[in-house]
Amino acid sequence: MRVGIELASWLSLGVGALGAAQSNVPWPAIPKPQSVASTNGPVYVYPSSVRKGLSSGFANNSANSDSALVFQSIGDTYTLDYGSDVAGKPIFHIQVAEGNPQIEVKYTEAFPGLLKAEGDGPFAFANALGATFRVETFNITKTGDLSGYFIQGSQRWQSIKLISGKKLVIQRAGFVSSVDQSPLSSMPGYFASSNSTYTYIWALGPRTQQLVCFPPESQTSTWEITSNGAYIRGQKPATTARVVNLSNYTLSFETMIDRGGTGWRVDTEIDAIQATGPICKYTSNPHTTGHITNPLILVVLTSEYPTGSFANIDKTLLPPNTLVLGRGWSLQNQTSLPGYVLDKFPLKFNVTEKTWHTIRTESPGDDTYTVYLDDRLIAHFNISSYGISDPNPYIPGGIYTSFAFGPWQDQAAYVRNVNVTLSTGENVYSNAMTSEDVLVEYGVQSNTQYVCSDSGKRDRFSWLGDRLISARTVMVGSHQGEYVWGPAEEAFSRQVGSGQIPINTLFSPLDAEGSLIRTTNVDPLIVDYDFDFMQVIYDYWVRSGNDTFLEKAWPRMVMATSYALSRSLDQKTQLFGAPYGSTGTPLSGEKGQALGPANTVSMIIGLERMAEMARFIGDNAAAAFYQTQAQLSRTAIDSLLWNETAGYYAATLGGTGYDLMDIAQVLLAGIGSEQRQASFVEKLSALRVQAGYINGTRFFDTPGIVDVYYMSFLLEGLALTNRTALAQDLLDATWAPMVNRDRNYTGGYWEYISTDGTYPGLDLFTGMSHFWGSYPTVFLSEYALGLRPTKPGYSTYLFAPLPGFKTEWVHGRVPTPAGLIYAAWGYNKQGKIVMEITPPAGLQGTLVPPFAGSYSVGNQQGQSGNHIIAGGATVIIVQE
Ligand SMILES: *[C@@H]1O[C@H](CO)[C@@H](O)[C@H](O)[C@H]1NC(C)=O
Ligand SMILES: *[C@@H]1O[C@H](CO)[C@@H](O)[C@H](O)[C@H]1NC(C)=O
Ligand SMILES: *[C@@H]1O[C@H](CO)[C@@H](O)[C@H](O)[C@H]1NC(C)=O
Ligand SMILES: *[C@@H]1O[C@H](CO)[C@@H](O)[C@H](O)[C@H]1NC(C)=O
Ligand SMILES: *[C@@H]1O[C@H](CO)[C@@H](O)[C@H](O)[C@H]1NC(C)=O
Ligand SMILES: *[C@@H]1O[C@H](CO)[C@@H](O)[C@H](O)[C@H]1NC(C)=O
Ligand SMILES: *[C@@H]1O[C@H](CO)[C@@H](O)[C@H](O)[C@H]1NC(C)=O
Ligand SMILES: *[C@@H]1O[C@H](CO)[C@@H](O)[C@H](O)[C@H]1NC(C)=O
Ligand SMILES: *[C@@H]1O[C@H](CO)[C@@H](O)[C@H](O)[C@H]1NC(C)=O
Ligand SMILES: *[C@@H]1O[C@H](CO)[C@@H](O)[C@H](O)[C@H]1NC(C)=O
Repeated sequence: MRVGIELASWLSLGVGALGAAQSNVPWPAIPKPQSVASTNGPVYVYPSSVRKGLSSGFANNSANSDSALVFQSIGDTYTLDYGSDVAGKPIFHIQVAEGNPQIEVKYTEAFPGLLKAEGDGPFAFANALGATFRVETFNITKTGDLSGYFIQGSQRWQSIKLISGKKLVIQRAGFVSSVDQSPLSSMPGYFASSNSTYTYIWALGPRTQQLVCFPPESQTSTWEITSNGAYIRGQKPATTARVVNLSNYTLSFETMIDRGGTGWRVDTEIDAIQATGPICKYTSNPHTTGHITNPLILVVLTSEYPTGSFANIDKTLLPPNTLVLGRGWSLQNQTSLPGYVLDKFPLKFNVTEKTWHTIRTESPGDDTYTVYLDDRLIAHFNISSYGISDPNPYIPGGIYTSFAFGPWQDQAAYVRNVNVTLSTGENVYSNAMTSEDVLVEYGVQSNTQYVCSDSGKRDRFSWLGDRLISARTVMVGSHQGEYVWGPAEEAFSRQVGSGQIPINTLFSPLDAEGSLIRTTNVDPLIVDYDFDFMQVIYDYWVRSGNDTFLEKAWPRMVMATSYALSRSLDQKTQLFGAPYGSTGTPLSGEKGQALGPANTVSMIIGLERMAEMARFIGDNAAAAFYQTQAQLSRTAIDSLLWNETAGYYAATLGGTGYDLMDIAQVLLAGIGSEQRQASFVEKLSALRVQAGYINGTRFFDTPGIVDVYYMSFLLEGLALTNRTALAQDLLDATWAPMVNRDRNYTGGYWEYISTDGTYPGLDLFTGMSHFWGSYPTVFLSEYALGLRPTKPGYSTYLFAPLPGFKTEWVHGRVPTPAGLIYAAWGYNKQGKIVMEITPPAGLQGTLVPPFAGSYSVGNQQGQSGNHIIAGGATVIIVQE
């Protein structure tokens, strides 16, 4: 789907719309949601533009999108532009295939990825029910439809290059979509403005949701179980959690290489969140305590590359008949995921394909490793001799390691009869790998729950706290609550006895043992996400009125809150003092060492929301406890962190400096007096860059890029405190570049943006359909239009546009459990503000005019102050 075309037709809709009859209102009719026929079967998406060669220069030219792709010589290449992000399994309708053609296909969100050998990947961060590699090679043996195996998680650009064969004609190439392609106009939520920039920014929210939130069974398994064992195509090796922290043991398995080679890891962290960490602003503690000191080795064994092998194999990286030893995330670097090739062991004999081999890896626990192929020693090495130190410069290591299987890009191999034997002779693991349970054990089973990813293409984990912003985007846009309660139930289903819930988790269903190990292994990452998660549930409850969900989740919420408090509350100061605090905490922060305002505010708001929900549940003792603790911490920030001379809340106890998340959070919680807040907000100007605000004085990470997640908090803080000019300025600076129809446009929100707003900030790694920074969708509905709930289920709500927001008009629909609220406001020909609202019956609204002075309501003139809206009928007020 092309969002652009979509929006254009959406804007011109007048049929069946509200407000069409009024002539003296400045806005066009507010459309009703369009009904769409539900589709069964596969949905195909095709490029909007196809061009021979590598080119980004034709973004708006769709004239040639229907012509066939004709490849006549090796090296012939086509660029396919989808106009905005799509996702799914690649499909090629092959018309002519002469001489065994092979094609190399690349995928990328940002165009420059096509210019790189590895596309915009590899994304070796998570076992994510999607492709790890962004380059795939296909062997074309016949005409007809050829479909890829892996889901490619999000891309706007694709290239296809002939690397072998005589002649190939692809009548059409595209994707079988793995995400919802329903038109945005069918969603209950809607927003438009006289300034189409805002219309388009709003629409980034629901489209990003489609690209990152997945219904059950939509993200397919990445392993296949056969009677010959697990058939594993090239991808990030997936770990078992059945046996952990092995020492002095031998791992043996049988493998049959189908193409290219086979791969495995030993002594590797489970789920690999900590492997030579990604840039992660939440985790800044460099202490090595708790680090895995194990080698985390990655091994790829290549075949002899028989005739017919892929013509594009990188034989420098992977020579034939060679054991390639690596560590880190993979054998290639990708932005902040370093990989290391440590050694290559050429074999003196051929490694045959399509025959069974037995591989034994001995790990006696003294850093030496010995690998045997069919009882012949093929490699012996001491991992510490390579001088690659302990990974994890930023992230505390998990406590569990195990082994994993997964060959390199374009390789494929069977793995069966896996055994682990200790030096004592005891067999501790034995698995024929022929049972479907293997998929759950290794975390590569198709999702059975509603899950939301951080990003379409990468970091395909279900992160807990990143939804603080995006869960509200879901509710004001699609109103598909299953994308809030679904991931919440997934997290609760993996809660362990301590109350801990996984901060990030796989999409795959897990068994009890896998949940326990994998959840525990992400402790103590980002404890404040627990408090953010309680806010997510509150925000969902308020916008859905789903009491049933709240009642069901409540005991688990209490457990998780207790766990988070025990892990993070510094009793001495009442400030947040997590062992590994979030949001750029200083390079210190053992528990007991108090941190700055930002994390403490997460805790405060989390506790206050818990108190409100506890009162609803009838748990008054819990409510009182949460409320009291929140109040103590509020007082602590104001009394311990305020620096009167400098005029800011200090980022650390007894320290100096501040940062923008502290400013945002102080506004969101309303910490301190208005004067202190005003003084603190003045500090923002020093952090201003063209595309928003960058780090204050203490962020060590992602220097020099604008973090759209942080900007979301700041935007809300500015809106909540009626700082309209600053809020609108930020909206324009950070998000307007994302709706420029240039080669970077994806139709989705970006994760980061460069300081000048010209480029998605974190190189090719940047998620360009990333949900965490999606606050503008909420801002535009709740503050620019001005419709926001004040009680669960919108039983009471405000129609209170931000005074002074610059626009000629805005209008839209906000979904509530009682039905849609239609509303609009704008300036009439006389330059007076007109406001109109048509809410469902049963909800009580309070209209707060964004101007001082009087107004008329219907025939009643000279009204002033707030106006109560009963619901069930249209109300129009006109400024006098
Ligand atoms: C090893 O493989 C190469 C490439 O397939 C082949 O040319 C060679 O004959 C093989 N050697 C043996 C001993 O099988
Ligand atoms: C591609 O297909 C041809 C013809 O079936 C076969 O000979 C060759 O081995 C295949 N190559 C790969 C890499 O699968
Ligand atoms: C990845 O980058 C690191 C430096 O950050 C370098 O030491 C290493 O060799 C690189 N790995 C590869 C495979 O190029
Ligand atoms: C491993 O076990 C063997 C046999 O029990 C023993 O000789 C050896 O010292 C052990 N290795 C280490 C590093 O403990
Ligand atoms: C390894 O395990 C498989 C199946 O679990 C078993 O059938 C096989 O005999 C074992 N092989 C060895 C060498 O221990
Ligand atoms: C409330 O949440 C539950 C999940 O706990 C879900 O099954 C149900 O459909 C939701 N109800 C509404 C009205 O959204
Ligand atoms: C307040 O901040 C200033 C720097 O702006 C610093 O010199 C001073 O020591 C701080 N005061 C306290 C009490 O930390
Ligand atoms: C942002 O952080 C980087 C790296 O820590 C630092 O060099 C830069 O000066 C910081 N910017 C501001 C405005 O503080
Ligand atoms: C902001 O304005 C709203 C009315 O739109 C008002 O209810 C609220 O109290 C104001 N907030 C602050 C912090 O001034
Ligand atoms: C629309 O908003 C953008 C910023 O997002 C601004 O640059 C532009 O001037 C506005 N257009 C009008 C007509 O106000």
